Amino acid sequence: MDKQEFFSDRAQGMQRSVIRELLKITAKPGIISFAGGLPAPASFPVDFVRKALDSVLDKEPHTALQYGPTEGDPRLREDLAGIMKEDGIDTTPDHILITTASQQGLDLVGKIFFNPGNTCITGSPTYLGALQAFKSYQGVPVGVELDDHGMIPEKLEETLARLEEEGRKPRFIYVIPDFQNPAGVTIPLERRKRILEIAGKGGYLVIEDTPYRQLRYKGKSQPTFQSLEPDMVLSLYTISKILLPGFRLGWACGPGWIIDKMVMAKQAVDLCTSPFNQALTHAMLSMGALDKSLEQTIELYGNRRKLMLECMEKEFTGIDDIHWTKPEGGLFLWLTLPEGLNTEKMFKEAVDAKVAYVPGSAFYPDNDNFRSMRLNFSYADEGQIVEGMKRLGNLIRKKISATG
Ligand SMILES: Cc1ncc(COP(=O)(O)O)c(C=O)c1O
Repeated sequence: MDKQEFFSDRAQGMQRSVIRELLKITAKPGIISFAGGLPAPASFPVDFVRKALDSVLDKEPHTALQYGPTEGDPRLREDLAGIMKEDGIDTTPDHILITTASQQGLDLVGKIFFNPGNTCITGSPTYLGALQAFKSYQGVPVGVELDDHGMIPEKLEETLARLEEEGRKPRFIYVIPDFQNPAGVTIPLERRKRILEIAGKGGYLVIEDTPYRQLRYKGKSQPTFQSLEPDMVLSLYTISKILLPGFRLGWACGPGWIIDKMVMAKQAVDLCTSPFNQALTHAMLSMGALDKSLEQTIELYGNRRKLMLECMEKEFTGIDDIHWTKPEGGLFLWLTLPEGLNTEKMFKEAVDAKVAYVPGSAFYPDNDNFRSMRLNFSYADEGQIVEGMKRLGNLIRKKISATG
């Protein structure tokens, strides 16, 4: 008997993340990797963690080491509501659910919104982990093209009309508005309003996933979807990229009726997010760790972003039909190679040349694009960025001459 038949249809459809598999290859010594999406270890607020640890163990060991409420530590929800208010979002702690980082937020979204075979809208390309979460509930992500300003409203309208006509009305529209993973692009205010207008007309929920929002190195912050349309938007946040990923701590913020259902869904998953990590996070926020840490992280990543863009200008000069996004924040940029080159096929040669990226095809929900790649600029240090870009430039030139 085929052992797969023991599994549910849902489980049979599950696949390992291409990126996590690929990271095993790129972790070999000597390879300069722009493939992962990891924060720089230098950005971790180790001293604050140590101070918070002492404080929590001294003052509140019995509650911090105990189970906690599914909704999350009330003090932390209060802190996060405050952070959101500063960002122009008029919310209260009871509209916030602490999650085991935003990946769990995505999983809960899949769990509460999909019946098998239901569609949803995502960017094309989009975050691979969202595709994985949605597909694991037998959701069917349908991609809408992006340009340098994120999801294209006209394409969204067309896709919604087509799906409605086919009787496949999407359950929600999933957007990553700020410094999108993988493309690095940000949706400007007018386009945010337009997307919300389209969503409102068709009666669609919007899921706004914005893990990089606070990591802005250039330009002006754009209002969140949530602040523009609080009744129809669920937002997902995380401390992973702005403080540290190892606590596995994030939060969802949105209408009470959605948060309430997410609480029920979460109870079956993990009962609650680690109360200990929540207590530590609350202690760290009370010490001002977020502002201090963000200040340093923004400087570090901002410089690396600038350096990578400069290296690209230098290494790719004279290559026709090559372009890349110039993100104002976040961790990633998106490089598109000349027609005829295939970043998936080139990958092995890149690893042989000791430089790594993620082939763009990994991020497409329902079509293929073999010309693009995602490059991360937060993890590799300055020397590696310079050398890695040189290796990548050489490889691209070699492939161009080989294709004639
Ligand atoms: C767009 C997006 N959403 C969610 C996540 C998940 O992050 P975490 O589970 O660490 O909060 C990531 C991580 O890279 C991401 O890029």
